[in-house]
Amino acid sequence: MKIEKLELAGFEAFLAYLNDHLSDNGQGDTAYFQPLPRAESRFPPEKAEAFKYGMQTEIGSPGWRRVWVARDEIGAIAGHIDLRAHPERHAAHRCLLGMGVGRTHRKQGLGGQLIVHAQQWALAAGLRWIDLQVLSANTPAIQLYDRSGFRQTGEIPDMFNIDGLSFNYTSMSLSVSGR
Ligand SMILES: CC(C)(COP(=O)(O)OP(=O)(O)OC[C@H]1O[C@@H](n2cnc3c(N)ncnc32)[C@H](O)[C@@H]1OP(=O)(O)O)[C@@H](O)C(=O)NCCC(=O)NCCS
Repeated sequence: MKIEKLELAGFEAFLAYLNDHLSDNGQGDTAYFQPLPRAESRFPPEKAEAFKYGMQTEIGSPGWRRVWVARDEIGAIAGHIDLRAHPERHAAHRCLLGMGVGRTHRKQGLGGQLIVHAQQWALAAGLRWIDLQVLSANTPAIQLYDRSGFRQTGEIPDMFNIDGLSFNYTSMSLSVSGR
C-alpha cells in the first residue's frame, strides 16, 4: 500500500476518514483506543485549525505536526500515522505518535509499515525519541508497539473513567535510531 504525506488539500477527506475511524472506539470487538466516551467519539471540530496549523509549522517549532496516510488501490485512506511536538519546552528532540488502521485493513501488517515509515522520517529529521500513550486495555496496539521496538516507560492506574469503566494508561517510547 502506498504511504504518503497528507497535504492540506486532503484534510477534509482525512477528517471524514478520522471520524469514521473514531466511531469504532469501544464499539463491539474493538477496544477503547481513545480516552473518549462512546457518545463523544469524533474529532472535535475546534481542534481542526490547530491540526492544520501544525501541518504547516516547521519541525522543532511549537505545535508542529506531520501526518501520513496509507491509500488503497482506489486512493481511499486505509490507515494513518502522525507525529507531533511535545507541549513541553526543551523536548524538541522528541515527538508524540498517534495512529490508526481502518477496520477492513487490520491484521495485514499495515500498522507495522506505518510505524517504520514514521520512524525513518523521524531519523532523517534528526529526532531521537518517539513517545506515545495508549489505553492499557488496547492489546492490539500495545502488541504492535512492542513488536515495533517501543518499550514501556510507565503506567498510570485508573487514569480515566469512561462510560462507567476504569482505564489504565501506558506510556511507551521508541529510540528512533533503534539503539
Ligand atoms: C492497533 C492497530 C493500529 C493495529 O494495526 P494493524 O494494521 O492491524 O497492525 P498489524 O497488522 O501490523 O499487526 C496486528 C496483528 O496482525 C498480525 N499480522 C500482521 N501482518 C499480518 C499478515 N500479513 N497476515 C496476518 N496477520 C498479520 C500481527 O501479527 C498482529 O497480530 P497479533 O496482534 O495477534 O500479534 C489497529 O488495530 C487499529 O487501528 N486499532 C484502532 C485504533 C488504535 O488502537 N489506534 C492506536 C491508539 S494508541
